[in-house]
Amino acid sequence: MSLTPEGRALESHVAEVWAKLEERATAGLSAEECARFVAAARAIEAAIEPDAAIDGCRPDAPLTDHPWLKGSTAVSAALPTHSERLASPTPPALPEYRSALVTGGSRGIGAAIATRLAADGIRVALTYNASRTAADRVVEEITEAGGHALALHADSADADQIRAAADATGREYGKIDILVNNAGIGMGGPIEEMPIEHFDRTMAVNVRGPFAAAQAVLPHMPDHGRIINIGSVFADRTPFGTLSAYVTSKAAVAGLTRALARDLGGRGITVNNIQPGPISTDLTSADSHVRDVMTEATALRRFGTPEEIAGLVAYLAGPEASYITGATITADGGYAV
Ligand SMILES: NC(=O)c1ccc[n+]([C@@H]2O[C@H](COP(=O)([O-])OP(=O)(O)OC[C@H]3O[C@@H](n4cnc5c(N)ncnc54)[C@H](OP(=O)(O)O)[C@@H]3O)[C@@H](O)[C@H]2O)c1
Repeated sequence: MSLTPEGRALESHVAEVWAKLEERATAGLSAEECARFVAAARAIEAAIEPDAAIDGCRPDAPLTDHPWLKGSTAVSAALPTHSERLASPTPPALPEYRSALVTGGSRGIGAAIATRLAADGIRVALTYNASRTAADRVVEEITEAGGHALALHADSADADQIRAAADATGREYGKIDILVNNAGIGMGGPIEEMPIEHFDRTMAVNVRGPFAAAQAVLPHMPDHGRIINIGSVFADRTPFGTLSAYVTSKAAVAGLTRALARDLGGRGITVNNIQPGPISTDLTSADSHVRDVMTEATALRRFGTPEEIAGLVAYLAGPEASYITGATITADGGYAV
């Protein structure tokens, strides 16, 4: 068949489209998706009429914007939709570089998490509220070890400050692949005496904070991101009193985890909750009697280390945890058994 000049131009455009499809097909699409792209290219070829006008036919135009294919149900049916791509059974490969926002990364478990993620090659932003010097020290140590880190002031009880920290992280690193909601406080006291403001503050930092942080990172989080909350084994087991506000807040974190997993599963984002048992940090060092009681209550007869929790965070942020979401995982030395 002899082609008009327009037809030849279009034929060469189709060849380019084929090349692009192949390029995309070899860039990690599943066999099923490749087959769909091939079907799309065939639909394009079938739609070609040699003597039709080619005005507006730009090689870089999206396929479905092609003047001859606009509204073509054959093409749009053949191209995989966003949700179909996500529904592929093949787990996604991790991006070349990743970045994380860790709340409350100045001390204790949060500092260990920031340090571990950085050691795994992840660029880390960590927030602090009161401990600027400690936060700077964590950043210094990470940087000296060859990693990337920055410290940002953000009171987790203040949604505006959290949003500013998320935006600063997004600007600095281009995206936020991982959010670790670690910042937490433990205001205890007998129910008869506890000021209601302590309850409000506990809920604001421990529950409202993670909710606000999830909202704030989402515009910066690519599909298949990870959100990891740090709850507490006290959500499941409450062996002594004075913990009503704290226990309530950590039970809420477990619920929030399940709900967010449902909300964000369509984007391939996983949301999980780690419930540490007694871990040796400033939060647990104050009362030696409580320490003794808690040590005795663990099956392993010891407190855990912040690094043991950080290891679990690294796992949930890593490639092997791609099918875990909405889960609460306890790391408590057998405290809850
Ligand atoms: N240690 C345990 O045995 C244990 C057990 C179960 C669960 N957890 C949970 O693990 C998480 C970390 O606890 P941890 O033991 O590492 O506590 P920690 O040693 O007291 O450290 C708390 C961290 O959270 C930050 N933080 C506190 N209030 C904040 C706020 N309003 N805004 C931003 N950051 C804030 C602190 O930063 P600044 O000093 O800068 O304010 C600090 O970096 C908490 O969610 C806690 O509930 C701990």
